[in-house]
Parts: sequence; structure tokens; C-alpha cells
Amino acid sequence: MKRFGVSLEDDLLEKLDELVASRAFPNRSQAIRFLIRKHLTEERWKNNREVSACLVLVYDHHKSDLQHKLTGIQHEYHHLVLCSQHVHLDHDNCMETITLKGKAAALEELSDKLMALKGIIHGELVMSVSG
Ligand code: NI
Repeated sequence: MKRFGVSLEDDLLEKLDELVASRAFPNRSQAIRFLIRKHLTEERWKNNREVSACLVLVYDHHKSDLQHKLTGIQHEYHHLVLCSQHVHLDHDNCMETITLKGKAAALEELSDKLMALKGIIHGELVMSVSG
């Protein structure tokens, strides 16, 4: 671990402190580490590098054929899918968490297809760097 001094304008420092408070970071250093890693992750995605990600889908399992289509698409892209977890949230709704690894553009293509299916209530792709 190395220490270094950072000069910031007052308003930017105020924004950093707001971020520290709102995200409950223990200190400014942790917030800066988070921002640097977030930036590096986004760069990897922009450059279509090998990355890992998690796709979260919430849907009503009664919607016709939805579960069948979800499985079919995942099989088409099986080389990108590491694992998936299905949770029955309540009587109607399910949450599926699909862990992915591969080229950023391919992961986006797969998750766009899944999220676009009729009956998906919520879908979000969480980007990460490759492990
Ligand atoms: Ni379910």
C-alpha cells in the first residue's frame, strides 16, 4: 500500500465527501479505490475485453413460454454462462441470477436478448472485471 497526496478543488472534495457519506464508505481512500476500479472496469468493457458479469432477471413465471425461452437462449450462449441461480420470490415472481464470463460485447448481446423477452419485469447487467 502506497500513500499519496491528492489536491482537489473545494467543490470536488465536497462531492467526494457526499459520495463517502451516501455509499457508507469508511473513508475517502476507499471511495477513491472504488472509483478507480469502476473506471478500469468500464474501460475493459469499452474495449471488448474478457470480463465477468452478473445478470439479474425478475419475471413472472406464469408468462407463457418465458421460462422455456430463457433456458433456450442460455443454451445458445452456454459457452458464456458459468452458472445460474433461480429463487422463487413469491407466488408469481422469480429472480434469476446468471453469472457470465466472456468478451464484453458477447455478454451484452446475450443479456440484451434475455432482458428483451416479454414478461421480464426487471433486468440488469452488473459489470465486473475478469477474475
Ligand atoms: Ni421460480
